[in-house]
Amino acid sequence: MRYEFADRLQRLPPYLFVRLEEMTAKKRAEGIDIIDFGIGDPDLPTPDEIIEEMCIQSRINANQKYSSSAGERDLRVAVARWYKKRYGVDVDPDTQVCVTIGSKEAIFNIAQAFVNPGETIIAPSPGYPVYSGASTIFNEAECVKVPLRAEKDWLLDVDECPKGAKMLYINYPNNPTGATCDKDYLKKVYDWCQENDTILCVDDAYCEMTYDGYQAPSILEIGEDAIEFGSFSKTFNMTGFRLGYAVGHPDLIAGLKKCKGQVDSGAPIFIQKAAIKALEMYGENGEAPEAVRKNMKEYSDRREVLVNGLRELGFDVKMPKGTFYIWFDSKCKTSLEFTERMLDLGIVVTPGSGFGESAEGYVRMTVTQPIPRIKEALQRMKEGLN
Ligand SMILES: Cc1ncc(COP(=O)(O)O)c(C=O)c1O
Repeated sequence: MRYEFADRLQRLPPYLFVRLEEMTAKKRAEGIDIIDFGIGDPDLPTPDEIIEEMCIQSRINANQKYSSSAGERDLRVAVARWYKKRYGVDVDPDTQVCVTIGSKEAIFNIAQAFVNPGETIIAPSPGYPVYSGASTIFNEAECVKVPLRAEKDWLLDVDECPKGAKMLYINYPNNPTGATCDKDYLKKVYDWCQENDTILCVDDAYCEMTYDGYQAPSILEIGEDAIEFGSFSKTFNMTGFRLGYAVGHPDLIAGLKKCKGQVDSGAPIFIQKAAIKALEMYGENGEAPEAVRKNMKEYSDRREVLVNGLRELGFDVKMPKGTFYIWFDSKCKTSLEFTERMLDLGIVVTPGSGFGESAEGYVRMTVTQPIPRIKEALQRMKEGLN
């Protein structure tokens, strides 16, 4: 028997990271010592307090059962409390919060819940591939990719967005560019979406991964007519736990919950209980706990070593105030050409073109390597690139 993928699956572009993994595996098989700055997965461990809580919670029989697709109520209450501490915003845990299995599924499911075939989704380019991939293609929607540009600090310009779109995704602190935004910018995007009847989806996966005193604002500080996706993945080095949350307008949350009700039964309860512990570690004034601050200090130090080293090699690189991504023009004709040259030196970087054609020539390096390995990579680049 022959098994053919459904049309929607065939329309998906190849997922960038899969191709990169294959290329890297080949080099490893050749015995090359690889320094990997590729995929955005923290190398630092999950804080002990969270792991210990999860172990305790996982032994409780009631926590070994199905959760609900909306998530445990006590975690939704903890998310609401965190929004109050962190942003001074009141949200109702019953109608305005939904627990998600990582933010990725919610970014897809929100489109599933609200976008009809043929309607338009606006996705930033470069951008996280799920907006233009699964969110658009699985819903038979049309994707309009709006280019982000260096001269506009990689901020999506709503004046370039088509009117009449059903949904718009933005993401600051931004993957892959490391760009950040302020509240005035969020207000501009919010107002545009209100005027144009466009559902505003704010991907806030990196809201706590910030440096130099910068604090990322929340769209809920502007108004409730939007949905924001948060994640435990990067804040607490919990990518493998698969846990996030969505906060926003009750109708948007209701649609997300209805959709999730058909496809999942919620994240494991013991992981949700550990996440309560994680959020409760924040101070009453919204100050990040010691464990988070320590991790961010480490990423910040690595970021400085890498950016300064790249500058010494002649690259024009901005010091990002958010994310763990270093983003720069490779000065090669194509991103892939630079990526391949780096791979020959045993260094994995991510080609910017994989995040959108408008980023051709750019590359992304993630600071998920300790400082001695970053220095080693810089040395290899000094000797191997001309
Ligand atoms: C911009 C952005 N959004 C969302 C996600 C998904 O994060 P998670 O599903 O682990 O919460 C990622 C992961 O790398 C990301 O870069």
